[in-house]
Amino acid sequence: MQELAIYGGTRVIQPEEVRSWPPVDKSDEELVLDALYAKNQTRGKHNLELEKEFAAWNGNSHALFTNSGTAALHMCIAGCGIGAGDHVLVTAYSWSSSATCILHHDALPIFIDIDFDTFLIDPDKIEAAITPRTRAIIVVQLHGLCADMDAVNAIAAKHNLYVIEDACQAHGATYKGRKAGTMGHCAAFSLNQNKCLSSGEGGIFVTDDEEIYRNACKLWSFGETARPEQARDYHAYALGWMYRNNELTAAFARAQLKKYDYYFDTLRANGDYLQDNLGGIKGLLQPYVPVDCVHNWYNYNLRIDFDALGISDNRPSFRDAVCAAIAAEGVACSVWQRFILPEMTVFQAKNAYGHGYPWSIPGADEGIDYTLENYPNALRYSECHMSMVQTLRAPNGLDIAAKVVAAIRKVFDNIGRVDPDRILQESK
Ligand SMILES: Cc1ncc(COP(=O)(O)O)c(C=O)c1O
Repeated sequence: MQELAIYGGTRVIQPEEVRSWPPVDKSDEELVLDALYAKNQTRGKHNLELEKEFAAWNGNSHALFTNSGTAALHMCIAGCGIGAGDHVLVTAYSWSSSATCILHHDALPIFIDIDFDTFLIDPDKIEAAITPRTRAIIVVQLHGLCADMDAVNAIAAKHNLYVIEDACQAHGATYKGRKAGTMGHCAAFSLNQNKCLSSGEGGIFVTDDEEIYRNACKLWSFGETARPEQARDYHAYALGWMYRNNELTAAFARAQLKKYDYYFDTLRANGDYLQDNLGGIKGLLQPYVPVDCVHNWYNYNLRIDFDALGISDNRPSFRDAVCAAIAAEGVACSVWQRFILPEMTVFQAKNAYGHGYPWSIPGADEGIDYTLENYPNALRYSECHMSMVQTLRAPNGLDIAAKVVAAIRKVFDNIGRVDPDRILQESK
């Protein structure tokens, strides 16, 4: 039995073998230099072209380039006309801003538990949470897997609710052949450093709806009503933010988008390789992908089956130690979110802007209960999952994917030797 790298054994993957993300070449240099030497460094040709190219690539009528995915999510909320005291349903397990974007417009999140196998919003739990205050459902296409959109859209249509897709991690993922970001009223993508499509930072808002687009435009640029290609009059017709992005970043995003098919195919091949080669390991649950979905493998998530390993105490510590042992073998393995959303202080305190606002809006807080036991699947998932991200991204190919499999197998072959006290103490 080979010694684990975390205890001083030889790593399966050496640091120099894994190439960094995102790959940059001459095509990026050319477009970024073109932007750098242009007269206009704020919005210009590259912003407008990126918006057209992204909309065409994803199949949307409108796209707006923003300075973050969070800005694009806030634009979704405002675009749908959601306002003070409204309720918006959102999954209990996601990135913080999947839910704080609701607070940005003085509305209140109502959390819905996840399905443990898909880690996505459980459509069967949505209807019980709908009240006369409910205006929208935010569906997070988490880790690059799409939720059961037919089920969500049917509930939304029945109750006259907007559907907002948080597609920040889901570039290119599909459900029944439809792309993430085309299945609700509007959607947000992120282009931050870790995303499958990256320009360092940035986001893209998309919609096919003219009115939502107009509302989103206002929020995006100081409350002005000029569309992106029109001359501005610098008048605040509504409360707006400054959510636009610049030419250098737009040029980088355009260059990366041109390579997206290659990135997507590489990640798909690597993720599928892991699916085919990590079966039958005691104590390890592989990702579950419904037949209707094409996962983009933004995050390849494994779960520890504690019952199969006979572990009942300090489960999160055991998971952290396994994760550290895999990382020590050279795989970028981490815990993606160890908190569920309702656990975060801003929600437990019910205070975003001081004075308990927006929960203190008369009547708005009625029936809102963020007790953690309401979300058993999200809690269970947050304790047992591990995420693998960048090791599987282009230009790393199947040779690296094979080593990832070897590293994970090595740790699970030695699972009896994984000692959280020793490992977590040493990593402090
Ligand atoms: C699911 C999800 N939603 C929203 C965001 C926010 O994106 P950004 O970091 O670009 O604001 C992220 C990114 O971290 C995310 O993963």
